[in-house]
Amino acid sequence: MLYRSVLRPLLFRLPPETAHEMVLHALAVALKDGSLRQLIARRYHRSAFGLRCFGLSFANPVGLAAGFDKNGTGAQALAAFGFGFIEVGTVTHTAQPGNPRPRLFRLPLDRALINRAGFNNDGAAALASHLKTHRPDCVLGINIGKSRAVEIEDAIPDYLASFDLVYELADYIAVNVSSPNTPHLRELQQADRLGALLGALQERNRELAAREGRAPVPLLVKISPDLNIGEVEMIVGVAERTDISGIIATNTTTSRGELRHTPRSNVTACGEGGLSGVPLRARSTEVVAALYRLTGGKLPIIGVGGIFNAADAWEKITAGASLVQLYTGFVYQGVEIVRDINDGLMKILDQSGFRSLTEAVGSRARELAAA
Ligand SMILES: Cc1cc2nc3c(=O)[nH]c(=O)nc-3n(C[C@H](O)[C@H](O)[C@H](O)COP(=O)(O)O)c2cc1C
Repeated sequence: MLYRSVLRPLLFRLPPETAHEMVLHALAVALKDGSLRQLIARRYHRSAFGLRCFGLSFANPVGLAAGFDKNGTGAQALAAFGFGFIEVGTVTHTAQPGNPRPRLFRLPLDRALINRAGFNNDGAAALASHLKTHRPDCVLGINIGKSRAVEIEDAIPDYLASFDLVYELADYIAVNVSSPNTPHLRELQQADRLGALLGALQERNRELAAREGRAPVPLLVKISPDLNIGEVEMIVGVAERTDISGIIATNTTTSRGELRHTPRSNVTACGEGGLSGVPLRARSTEVVAALYRLTGGKLPIIGVGGIFNAADAWEKITAGASLVQLYTGFVYQGVEIVRDINDGLMKILDQSGFRSLTEAVGSRARELAAA
Protein backbone atom coordinates (compact mmCIF):
# COMPACT_ATOMS: atom_id res chain seq x y z
CA MET A 1 0.00 0.00 0.00
CA LEU A 2 2.75 2.41 1.01
CA TYR A 3 4.48 1.74 -2.29
CA ARG A 4 1.45 2.37 -4.49
CA SER A 5 0.20 5.43 -2.61
CA VAL A 6 3.47 7.19 -1.72
CA LEU A 7 6.63 5.71 -3.21
CA ARG A 8 5.43 4.88 -6.72
CA PRO A 9 4.08 8.38 -7.48
CA LEU A 10 7.45 9.80 -6.45
CA LEU A 11 9.49 7.25 -8.36
CA PHE A 12 7.31 7.61 -11.46
CA ARG A 13 8.27 11.30 -11.63
CA LEU A 14 11.85 10.27 -12.32
CA PRO A 15 13.11 8.87 -15.61
CA PRO A 16 12.43 5.09 -15.42
CA GLU A 17 16.03 3.97 -15.44
CA THR A 18 17.08 6.55 -12.84
CA ALA A 19 14.27 5.35 -10.56
CA HIS A 20 15.33 1.75 -11.14
CA GLU A 21 18.97 2.43 -10.30
CA MET A 22 18.02 4.42 -7.20
CA VAL A 23 15.79 1.65 -5.86
CA LEU A 24 18.33 -1.07 -6.50
CA HIS A 25 21.12 0.94 -4.91
CA ALA A 26 19.00 2.02 -1.93
CA LEU A 27 17.93 -1.57 -1.24
CA ALA A 28 21.49 -2.88 -1.47
CA VAL A 29 22.80 -0.19 0.90
CA ALA A 30 19.89 -0.23 3.36
CA LEU A 31 19.88 -4.03 3.64
CA LYS A 32 23.63 -4.59 3.72
CA ASP A 33 23.30 -5.74 7.28
CA GLY A 34 22.38 -9.42 7.54
CA SER A 35 20.33 -9.10 10.72
CA LEU A 36 18.13 -6.40 9.15
CA ARG A 37 17.61 -8.61 6.10
CA GLN A 38 16.59 -11.45 8.40
CA LEU A 39 14.09 -9.22 10.16
CA ILE A 40 12.49 -8.28 6.85
CA ALA A 41 12.64 -11.86 5.59
CA ARG A 42 10.65 -12.98 8.65
CA ARG A 43 7.86 -10.62 7.60
CA TYR A 44 7.86 -11.50 3.92
CA HIS A 45 9.11 -15.04 3.63
CA ARG A 46 6.67 -17.79 2.57
CA SER A 47 7.79 -21.40 2.42
CA ALA A 48 4.74 -23.61 2.72
CA PHE A 49 4.84 -24.83 -0.87
CA GLY A 50 7.68 -27.34 -0.64
CA LEU A 51 8.48 -27.34 -4.35
CA ARG A 52 11.13 -29.32 -6.13
CA CYS A 53 12.13 -28.52 -9.66
CA PHE A 54 15.13 -29.66 -11.74
CA GLY A 55 16.69 -31.09 -8.59
CA LEU A 56 16.40 -27.88 -6.53
CA SER A 57 14.14 -27.00 -3.60
CA PHE A 58 12.12 -23.78 -3.81
CA ALA A 59 10.45 -22.23 -0.75
CA ASN A 60 7.79 -20.79 -3.04
CA PRO A 61 7.17 -20.53 -6.80
CA VAL A 62 7.62 -16.76 -7.24
CA GLY A 63 10.90 -15.60 -8.76
CA LEU A 64 12.42 -12.31 -9.89
CA ALA A 65 12.89 -12.34 -13.67
CA ALA A 66 16.19 -11.54 -15.39
CA GLY A 67 17.06 -7.94 -16.18
CA PHE A 68 16.00 -6.36 -12.91
CA ASP A 69 19.31 -7.06 -11.19
CA LYS A 70 21.72 -7.45 -14.08
CA ASN A 71 24.90 -7.38 -11.94
CA GLY A 72 23.60 -9.19 -8.88
CA THR A 73 24.27 -6.19 -6.65
CA GLY A 74 20.76 -6.20 -5.18
CA ALA A 75 20.15 -9.95 -5.05
CA GLN A 76 20.71 -10.39 -1.31
CA ALA A 77 18.44 -7.48 -0.43
CA LEU A 78 15.75 -8.52 -2.93
CA ALA A 79 15.70 -12.07 -1.58
CA ALA A 80 14.61 -10.71 1.81
CA PHE A 81 11.26 -9.75 0.27
CA GLY A 82 10.30 -13.39 -0.06
CA PHE A 83 11.26 -14.45 -3.58
CA GLY A 84 11.57 -18.21 -3.99
CA PHE A 85 14.33 -17.57 -6.49
CA ILE A 86 16.18 -14.73 -8.15
CA GLU A 87 17.56 -14.76 -11.66
CA VAL A 88 20.37 -12.25 -12.06
CA GLY A 89 21.79 -11.07 -15.41
CA THR A 90 21.68 -11.09 -18.32
CA VAL A 91 25.46 -10.91 -18.13
CA THR A 92 27.79 -11.11 -21.09
CA HIS A 93 31.41 -12.30 -21.19
CA THR A 94 32.80 -8.78 -20.83
CA ALA A 95 31.24 -5.55 -19.59
CA GLN A 96 29.23 -3.53 -22.14
CA PRO A 97 27.27 -0.27 -21.93
CA GLY A 98 24.05 -1.33 -23.69
CA ASN A 99 22.05 0.98 -25.94
CA PRO A 100 22.04 4.77 -25.56
CA ARG A 101 19.54 6.24 -23.07
CA PRO A 102 16.63 6.70 -22.86
CA ARG A 103 15.99 2.98 -23.31
CA LEU A 104 13.28 2.22 -20.76
CA PHE A 105 9.72 3.60 -20.97
CA ARG A 106 6.62 3.29 -18.78
CA LEU A 107 3.17 2.81 -20.26
CA PRO A 108 1.07 3.07 -17.09
CA LEU A 109 -2.30 3.06 -18.88
CA ASP A 110 -1.50 -0.47 -20.04
CA ARG A 111 0.57 -1.40 -16.99
CA ALA A 112 3.47 -2.14 -19.30
CA LEU A 113 7.11 -1.25 -20.01
CA ILE A 114 9.07 -1.00 -23.23
CA ASN A 115 12.83 -1.48 -23.00
CA ARG A 116 15.76 -1.69 -25.36
CA ALA A 117 18.46 -1.92 -22.67
CA GLY A 118 20.68 -4.14 -24.83
CA PHE A 119 22.39 -6.10 -22.05
CA ASN A 120 24.06 -3.22 -20.20
CA ASN A 121 26.13 -5.06 -17.58
CA ASP A 122 29.47 -5.19 -15.79
CA GLY A 123 30.45 -8.55 -17.26
CA ALA A 124 30.31 -12.14 -15.99
CA ALA A 125 33.52 -11.90 -13.96
CA ALA A 126 32.28 -8.89 -11.96
CA LEU A 127 28.96 -10.62 -11.29
CA ALA A 128 30.73 -13.77 -10.13
CA SER A 129 33.11 -11.94 -7.83
CA HIS A 130 30.23 -10.02 -6.20
CA LEU A 131 28.05 -13.09 -5.74
CA LYS A 132 30.87 -15.07 -4.15
CA THR A 133 30.54 -12.90 -1.07
CA HIS A 134 26.92 -11.72 -1.47
CA ARG A 135 24.84 -14.81 -2.22
CA PRO A 136 21.09 -14.35 -1.86
CA ASP A 137 19.25 -16.54 0.60
CA CYS A 138 17.15 -18.34 -2.04
CA VAL A 139 17.68 -20.28 -5.26
CA LEU A 140 20.00 -18.30 -7.54
CA GLY A 141 19.70 -18.39 -11.33
CA ILE A 142 22.29 -16.71 -13.54
CA ASN A 143 21.22 -15.61 -17.01
CA ILE A 144 23.89 -15.39 -19.73
CA GLY A 145 23.69 -13.75 -23.15
CA LYS A 146 25.77 -12.94 -26.22
CA SER A 147 28.14 -9.96 -26.19
CA ARG A 148 27.06 -7.33 -28.66
CA ALA A 149 30.50 -7.10 -30.30
CA VAL A 150 30.55 -10.82 -31.08
CA GLU A 151 29.15 -12.03 -34.42
CA ILE A 152 26.37 -14.57 -34.30
CA GLU A 153 28.72 -17.18 -35.88
CA ASP A 154 31.06 -16.80 -32.88
CA ALA A 155 28.34 -16.94 -30.25
CA ILE A 156 29.29 -20.37 -28.85
CA PRO A 157 32.74 -19.50 -27.45
CA ASP A 158 31.28 -16.26 -26.11
CA TYR A 159 28.52 -18.06 -24.16
CA LEU A 160 31.03 -20.70 -23.00
CA ALA A 161 33.30 -17.97 -21.60
CA SER A 162 30.40 -16.59 -19.53
CA PHE A 163 29.35 -20.09 -18.50
CA ASP A 164 32.87 -20.85 -17.20
CA LEU A 165 32.85 -17.70 -15.08
CA VAL A 166 29.48 -18.23 -13.40
CA TYR A 167 28.73 -21.95 -13.28
CA GLU A 168 30.22 -22.51 -9.81
CA LEU A 169 27.92 -19.93 -8.27
CA ALA A 170 24.66 -20.67 -10.04
CA ASP A 171 21.95 -23.02 -8.83
CA TYR A 172 20.79 -22.92 -12.45
CA ILE A 173 21.97 -21.15 -15.60
CA ALA A 174 19.55 -19.60 -18.08
CA VAL A 175 20.65 -19.21 -21.69
CA ASN A 176 19.09 -16.09 -23.13
CA VAL A 177 18.51 -16.36 -26.87
CA SER A 178 15.37 -14.26 -26.92
CA SER A 179 16.09 -10.62 -26.09
CA PRO A 180 14.91 -8.41 -28.97
CA ASN A 181 17.54 -5.76 -28.17
CA THR A 182 20.76 -7.45 -29.32
CA PRO A 183 20.88 -7.60 -33.11
CA HIS A 184 20.48 -11.15 -34.52
CA LEU A 185 20.33 -12.74 -31.04
CA ARG A 186 16.95 -14.31 -31.65
CA GLU A 187 18.36 -16.17 -34.67
CA LEU A 188 19.96 -18.44 -32.07
CA GLN A 189 16.48 -19.89 -31.59
CA GLN A 190 16.76 -21.61 -35.00
CA ALA A 191 17.10 -25.41 -34.70
CA ASP A 192 20.67 -25.88 -35.94
CA ARG A 193 22.08 -22.86 -34.11
CA LEU A 194 20.24 -23.61 -30.86
CA GLY A 195 21.22 -27.28 -30.99
CA ALA A 196 24.89 -26.37 -31.46
CA LEU A 197 24.83 -23.76 -28.67
CA LEU A 198 23.00 -25.84 -26.07
CA GLY A 199 24.98 -28.95 -27.04
CA ALA A 200 28.30 -27.13 -26.51
CA LEU A 201 27.17 -25.68 -23.17
CA GLN A 202 25.98 -29.07 -21.95
CA GLU A 203 29.24 -30.71 -23.00
CA ARG A 204 31.20 -28.11 -20.99
CA ASN A 205 28.73 -28.53 -18.13
CA ARG A 206 29.34 -32.28 -17.98
CA GLU A 207 33.11 -31.87 -18.31
CA LEU A 208 33.30 -29.42 -15.42
CA ALA A 209 30.97 -31.53 -13.30
CA ALA A 210 33.04 -34.69 -13.89
CA ARG A 211 36.26 -32.85 -13.10
CA GLU A 212 34.88 -31.58 -9.82
CA GLY A 213 32.86 -34.65 -8.86
CA ARG A 214 29.53 -32.86 -8.74
CA ALA A 215 26.27 -32.91 -10.69
CA PRO A 216 26.00 -30.71 -13.79
CA VAL A 217 24.24 -27.41 -13.14
CA PRO A 218 20.64 -27.31 -14.49
CA LEU A 219 20.71 -25.47 -17.82
CA LEU A 220 17.55 -23.69 -18.99
CA VAL A 221 16.77 -21.80 -22.16
CA LYS A 222 14.69 -18.60 -22.28
CA ILE A 223 12.51 -18.13 -25.33
CA SER A 224 10.59 -15.38 -27.08
CA PRO A 225 6.81 -14.99 -27.19
CA ASP A 226 7.05 -14.09 -30.89
CA LEU A 227 7.65 -17.65 -32.11
CA ASN A 228 5.03 -19.58 -34.04
CA ILE A 229 3.90 -23.01 -32.92
CA GLY A 230 6.23 -24.75 -35.39
CA GLU A 231 9.20 -22.88 -33.96
CA VAL A 232 8.15 -23.71 -30.39
CA GLU A 233 7.86 -27.37 -31.37
CA MET A 234 11.33 -27.28 -32.90
CA ILE A 235 12.78 -25.73 -29.71
CA VAL A 236 11.19 -28.48 -27.63
CA GLY A 237 12.90 -31.04 -29.90
CA VAL A 238 16.28 -29.35 -29.40
CA ALA A 239 15.73 -29.03 -25.63
CA GLU A 240 14.97 -32.74 -25.38
CA ARG A 241 17.94 -33.75 -27.56
CA THR A 242 20.36 -31.62 -25.54
CA ASP A 243 18.90 -32.71 -22.21
CA ILE A 244 18.03 -29.20 -21.08
CA SER A 245 16.50 -28.97 -17.57
CA GLY A 246 13.73 -26.51 -18.38
CA ILE A 247 12.38 -23.69 -20.52
CA ILE A 248 11.67 -20.11 -19.43
CA ALA A 249 8.72 -18.64 -21.31
CA THR A 250 8.76 -15.83 -22.17
CA ASN A 251 10.96 -12.83 -22.81
CA THR A 252 9.47 -9.50 -23.98
CA THR A 253 7.57 -9.10 -27.27
CA THR A 254 8.22 -6.81 -30.22
CA SER A 255 4.49 -6.77 -30.92
CA ARG A 256 2.47 -3.68 -29.96
CA GLY A 257 -0.91 -5.20 -30.85
CA GLU A 258 -2.07 -5.72 -27.26
CA LEU A 259 -1.52 -2.12 -26.14
CA ARG A 260 -5.15 -1.10 -25.74
CA HIS A 261 -5.06 2.13 -23.72
CA THR A 262 -1.85 4.03 -24.50
CA PRO A 263 -2.25 6.61 -27.30
CA ARG A 264 -0.57 5.42 -30.52
CA SER A 265 1.68 8.49 -30.65
CA ASN A 266 3.06 7.69 -27.18
CA VAL A 267 3.77 4.12 -28.23
CA THR A 268 5.52 5.27 -31.40
CA ALA A 269 7.56 7.80 -29.42
CA CYS A 270 9.09 4.98 -27.34
CA GLY A 271 10.62 3.48 -30.47
CA GLU A 272 11.93 -0.07 -30.72
CA GLY A 273 12.23 -2.49 -27.85
CA GLY A 274 10.61 -5.34 -25.97
CA LEU A 275 7.18 -4.89 -24.45
CA SER A 276 6.45 -6.45 -21.04
CA GLY A 277 3.64 -6.41 -18.49
CA VAL A 278 -0.12 -6.84 -18.87
CA PRO A 279 -0.20 -6.77 -22.71
CA LEU A 280 2.19 -9.75 -22.78
CA ARG A 281 0.29 -11.90 -20.30
CA ALA A 282 -2.05 -13.87 -22.55
CA ARG A 283 0.57 -14.57 -25.19
CA SER A 284 3.16 -15.86 -22.73
CA THR A 285 0.51 -18.05 -21.09
CA GLU A 286 -0.29 -19.48 -24.52
CA VAL A 287 3.38 -20.32 -25.08
CA VAL A 288 3.61 -21.97 -21.64
CA ALA A 289 0.54 -24.08 -22.41
CA ALA A 290 1.88 -25.04 -25.85
CA LEU A 291 5.22 -26.05 -24.28
CA TYR A 292 3.46 -28.12 -21.63
CA ARG A 293 1.46 -29.98 -24.23
CA LEU A 294 4.42 -30.52 -26.56
CA THR A 295 6.60 -31.89 -23.74
CA GLY A 296 3.82 -33.95 -22.20
CA GLY A 297 4.48 -32.07 -18.97
CA LYS A 298 7.89 -33.72 -18.63
CA LEU A 299 10.07 -30.61 -18.95
CA PRO A 300 9.77 -27.98 -16.18
CA ILE A 301 8.61 -24.59 -17.43
CA ILE A 302 9.12 -21.21 -15.75
CA GLY A 303 6.20 -18.98 -16.75
CA VAL A 304 6.86 -15.25 -17.05
CA GLY A 305 4.97 -12.39 -18.66
CA GLY A 306 2.41 -9.99 -17.23
CA ILE A 307 2.04 -11.51 -13.75
CA PHE A 308 0.59 -8.88 -11.40
CA ASN A 309 -1.37 -10.98 -8.88
CA ALA A 310 -2.11 -14.49 -7.64
CA ALA A 311 -4.74 -15.13 -10.32
CA ASP A 312 -2.17 -14.36 -13.03
CA ALA A 313 0.34 -16.68 -11.38
CA TRP A 314 -2.28 -19.41 -11.06
CA GLU A 315 -3.10 -19.00 -14.75
CA LYS A 316 0.56 -19.62 -15.67
CA ILE A 317 0.74 -22.63 -13.30
CA THR A 318 -2.40 -24.24 -14.65
CA ALA A 319 -1.14 -23.55 -18.18
CA GLY A 320 1.93 -25.64 -17.33
CA ALA A 321 4.44 -23.56 -15.37
CA SER A 322 6.08 -25.19 -12.34
CA LEU A 323 7.49 -21.82 -11.27
CA VAL A 324 6.74 -18.20 -12.21
CA GLN A 325 8.77 -15.01 -12.50
CA LEU A 326 7.93 -11.33 -12.73
CA TYR A 327 9.57 -8.04 -13.54
CA THR A 328 7.03 -5.41 -14.66
CA GLY A 329 4.56 -6.34 -11.88
CA PHE A 330 7.30 -5.64 -9.36
CA VAL A 331 7.79 -2.13 -10.79
CA TYR A 332 4.06 -1.34 -10.64
CA GLN A 333 3.11 -3.11 -7.39
CA GLY A 334 6.27 -2.94 -5.28
CA VAL A 335 7.87 -5.51 -3.01
CA GLU A 336 4.58 -6.61 -1.47
CA ILE A 337 3.64 -8.28 -4.74
CA VAL A 338 5.70 -11.36 -3.81
CA ARG A 339 3.92 -11.94 -0.51
CA ASP A 340 0.52 -11.06 -2.00
CA ILE A 341 0.96 -13.61 -4.77
CA ASN A 342 2.17 -16.35 -2.43
CA ASP A 343 -0.65 -15.77 0.06
CA GLY A 344 -3.17 -15.55 -2.78
CA LEU A 345 -1.88 -18.75 -4.36
CA MET A 346 -2.29 -20.55 -1.03
CA LYS A 347 -5.94 -19.48 -0.90
CA ILE A 348 -6.61 -20.42 -4.52
CA LEU A 349 -4.94 -23.78 -3.95
CA ASP A 350 -7.06 -24.46 -0.85
CA GLN A 351 -10.23 -23.82 -2.84
CA SER A 352 -9.09 -25.64 -5.96
CA GLY A 353 -9.30 -29.22 -4.80
CA PHE A 354 -5.65 -29.85 -5.75
CA ARG A 355 -3.45 -31.08 -2.92
CA SER A 356 -0.35 -29.23 -4.10
CA LEU A 357 0.78 -26.67 -6.64
CA THR A 358 2.64 -29.42 -8.45
CA GLU A 359 -0.61 -31.28 -8.94
CA ALA A 360 -2.22 -28.17 -10.48
CA VAL A 361 0.59 -27.65 -13.02
CA GLY A 362 -0.77 -27.94 -16.56
CA SER A 363 -4.34 -28.73 -15.48
CA ARG A 364 -5.73 -26.18 -17.97
CA ALA A 365 -3.00 -26.51 -20.62
CA ARG A 366 -5.34 -27.83 -23.31
CA GLU A 367 -7.79 -24.97 -22.91
CA LEU A 368 -5.14 -22.24 -22.55
CA ALA A 369 -3.01 -23.44 -25.47
CA ALA A 370 -6.03 -23.16 -27.73
CA ALA A 371 -7.05 -19.72 -26.45
C1 LIG B 1 13.76 -3.29 -18.34
C2 LIG B 1 13.78 -4.77 -18.62
C3 LIG B 1 15.00 -5.38 -18.81
C4 LIG B 1 15.04 -6.76 -19.08
N1 LIG B 1 16.26 -7.36 -19.22
C5 LIG B 1 16.30 -8.71 -19.44
C6 LIG B 1 17.55 -9.37 -19.51
O1 LIG B 1 18.61 -8.78 -19.38
N2 LIG B 1 17.53 -10.71 -19.75
C7 LIG B 1 16.37 -11.42 -19.89
O2 LIG B 1 16.42 -12.65 -20.10
N3 LIG B 1 15.17 -10.81 -19.79
C8 LIG B 1 15.11 -9.49 -19.57
N4 LIG B 1 13.89 -8.86 -19.45
C9 LIG B 1 12.66 -9.67 -19.63
C10 LIG B 1 12.07 -10.12 -18.31
O3 LIG B 1 12.94 -10.99 -17.63
C11 LIG B 1 10.71 -10.85 -18.55
O4 LIG B 1 10.97 -12.02 -19.31
C12 LIG B 1 9.71 -10.00 -19.28
O5 LIG B 1 9.78 -8.66 -18.87
C13 LIG B 1 8.28 -10.49 -19.08
O6 LIG B 1 7.91 -10.47 -17.73
P1 LIG B 1 7.07 -9.27 -17.04
O7 LIG B 1 5.87 -9.02 -17.91
O8 LIG B 1 6.76 -9.76 -15.67
O9 LIG B 1 7.98 -8.09 -17.03
C14 LIG B 1 13.84 -7.50 -19.18
C15 LIG B 1 12.61 -6.85 -18.98
C16 LIG B 1 12.57 -5.50 -18.69
C17 LIG B 1 11.23 -4.84 -18.49
